[in-house]
Amino acid sequence: MANEFVSVIKPTATKASNGEGHSYPVLPVRETVLFPHAVLPLTVGRTSSIQLIQSLGEEKTILVVAQKDARQDQPDGGDLYDIGTRATVHKVVKMPNQSLFVFTEGTERVKITGFTQTEPFMTAQCEVIEENDTEESPEAEALQRNVLGQFQTIVTSSSTLSDDLQTIAINIEDPSRLADFIASSLPFLSTTDKQDLLETSDVKARLEKLNNSLAKELEVQQLRNKIQSEVQDSVQQSQRDYYLREQMKAIQKELGDQDDTQKDIADLKEKIEAAGMTEDVKKDALKELGRLSRMNPAAADYSLTRNYVEWLAVLPWSKGSAGEVDIKKAGEILDEDHYGLNKVKDRILDYLSVRRLKPDMKGPILCFVGPPGVGKTSLGRSIARALGRKFSRISLGGMHDEAEIRGHRRTYIGALPGQIIQHLKRVEVNDPVFMLDEIDKLGRDFRGDPSSALLETLDPEQNNTFRDNYLDQPFDLSKVLFICTANQLDPIPAPLLDRMEIIELTGYTEEEKVNIAERYLIPRQVKENGLEPGMIEFPTASVGMIARHYTREAGVRRLEQLIGTVCRKLARKVAEGRKEKLVITPEVIREMLGGIKVRVDTEIAERTKRAGVAVGLAWTPAGGDVLFIEANKMKGKGGFNITGQIGDVMKESMQAALTWVRSNAASLGLDEDVLKDTDLHIHVPAGGIPKDGPSAGVTMATALVSLLTNTPIRPLLAMTGEITLSGNVLPVGGIKEKFLAAKRAGVRDVILPIDVKTNVEEDLTADQIDGMTIHYASRIEDVLAVALPKTEADVVEAEEVREEILAAAE
Ligand SMILES: Nc1ncnc2c1ncn2[C@@H]1O[C@H](COP(=O)(O)OP(=O)(O)OP(=O)(O)O)[C@@H](O)[C@H]1O
Ligand SMILES: [Mg+2]
Repeated sequence: MANEFVSVIKPTATKASNGEGHSYPVLPVRETVLFPHAVLPLTVGRTSSIQLIQSLGEEKTILVVAQKDARQDQPDGGDLYDIGTRATVHKVVKMPNQSLFVFTEGTERVKITGFTQTEPFMTAQCEVIEENDTEESPEAEALQRNVLGQFQTIVTSSSTLSDDLQTIAINIEDPSRLADFIASSLPFLSTTDKQDLLETSDVKARLEKLNNSLAKELEVQQLRNKIQSEVQDSVQQSQRDYYLREQMKAIQKELGDQDDTQKDIADLKEKIEAAGMTEDVKKDALKELGRLSRMNPAAADYSLTRNYVEWLAVLPWSKGSAGEVDIKKAGEILDEDHYGLNKVKDRILDYLSVRRLKPDMKGPILCFVGPPGVGKTSLGRSIARALGRKFSRISLGGMHDEAEIRGHRRTYIGALPGQIIQHLKRVEVNDPVFMLDEIDKLGRDFRGDPSSALLETLDPEQNNTFRDNYLDQPFDLSKVLFICTANQLDPIPAPLLDRMEIIELTGYTEEEKVNIAERYLIPRQVKENGLEPGMIEFPTASVGMIARHYTREAGVRRLEQLIGTVCRKLARKVAEGRKEKLVITPEVIREMLGGIKVRVDTEIAERTKRAGVAVGLAWTPAGGDVLFIEANKMKGKGGFNITGQIGDVMKESMQAALTWVRSNAASLGLDEDVLKDTDLHIHVPAGGIPKDGPSAGVTMATALVSLLTNTPIRPLLAMTGEITLSGNVLPVGGIKEKFLAAKRAGVRDVILPIDVKTNVEEDLTADQIDGMTIHYASRIEDVLAVALPKTEADVVEAEEVREEILAAAE
């Protein structure tokens, strides 16, 4: 019947008279206890109770007593506690559901002394429980304050109790009333506890009990707060991250970033889908992309992951450019771009034909070997053009680190894919022509051996699953056409060399250079320097003069540079107002390029004036060159000396030459004892030429004989060949380069071993041989017969020729 509401004290409560002998109606209540001075609104629904309220006349005093068992619907006297509260009914409100709302105010504690009526409601007699006046001790005072303090703490930290309760409590001075007020205000006290407090008439004892209950409640409350905050903490931690992330998203969205990131990821996904990767690679790429999309764009490794995904996405996994290869057309394009080189072009076309007929052929890699400036790189470019493919040049010169070819692992700071993958990205197709330039200059040190990485790249057996360290995914390189270039073959590691088809390009003769210049170099330089073609004329003789006297090379690079210099000088004149055409005469050349720089023919003529000097021919990575060998003699004891930083093989062939000369002294017309008290010295001057190998044997023998017979050799004559102890002349290599070097130097007579005759006929064109006399020798006597003038007339004639050459140089 009695729901407890917040009870409010009514400070002006009047104290009812002592009720001895008087009977009062008894209102049993469930689960609540009315305290003196407290106002309690009670809902009354039981018929007996309603009748009780309705029977009240002038006198509105009743006894409010709690039921021992709240479940009892029809309690009798025995079901109620003995002690209750006498109360005044202030107001009765009828509720729509027939029940009544009764405002009661407790006045004092009473003890029921006997029931006087049970029907229709109970009435009973009672006696008021007197409260002993509490003596004012500091102890009591402290207790009271403690109770008040705890109550205040509870109210402050409770979310359901009104702060007004504090104010009221502070203003109650009477300890008994304070105890009753607090007891009736606390929702957490059980009915039993409340009843106990009501029954405790001793104020001090009541305060103590209350104090205990409050302390217990405080503890519970603190515990609850602690648990609450702990739970909150753990919830907050995860929520915090979530909120922050959400906030960040919101901020990014505000800034427009979010959209960008999302769009970026969508773009990448599209690219991955379109890249034509193999299923495995695609799966990995999408996995990485998924990781990326879950990452915070501001995170440090976001851009790393993004870069990686981007690399995967943009590589030409299956995009090719090549259509059918038209061999005829390819041939025309090669001819269009390069003069001469017919044999080279033929071999290139052979190679391309095979590739065309067997596209999946695991064929060798082309390798162009030859001196600088002979067109290796530009031939590669031309092949790409002929095939309709992209071209990219990868310079291997000075490359030390394996990672430059194959990349760094992704865990490495600043990691990038290697050159192969980088170039593939650049050309955007998987079948480009890759020119691996200067493969002979590949380095090797503690950072690893790039040649082994290169081997894996080039080897047709392995390169269909080429694995770059950075990508860590197999990439099929088998469609790439690799062309290597080198100046010489020696430094190329054998395993690489094994997989190559070597195509040699030797140097050009002066006529070829002039042709190349007239057809390609001059038009190009004229155009590049912004000149009108009609403004300049290079007569053929002038081009020849530049090639002969201003360059000393097998290729045409320096020649092109000089033509460029001439064009620039003219361009300046044009800019300064020159209108008329400039014809490049020898005078103009001298004016623009300075005096003649190279005069090998005069050098030869000059140096061979003296007996004991012979001209040899040497092969060098730059083509070939002439080589002077000087012999001299002095008084001594038959000693022998050789200088000029030469190798062992050359020293030995020198010994052979000397032995032959000594053993044939008589037939050479020498005094048998001539060498007895003479020391000989052979010197091979000029650096830059590798001075080793046997091919200078005949030259040294000739120099010695020239020295000992005091006969200068014929001018503009050069020779090469190995010599045996018995005087046979053996074949040597590099004939073509040596021959062309001799021709470039202005030599007119060349002595070669008889056994290279077929080489000469195969390798050299009639144009190249034109103007030269080749003498083949099988014995050293044959060499000497050509090299040394025999009769007086011969000597005079040689002198005349020499003078003529020297005069021309003046
Ligand atoms: N036969 C030729 N016809 C037309 N131009 C040529 C010919 N040979 C060389 N050239 C030109 O000479 C220049 C140098 O050639 P390129 O750069 O190909 O030399 P290279 O052999 O690669 O030299 P290096 O070994 O120094 O790299 C280029 O401009 C090239 O076009
Ligand atoms: Mg090159």
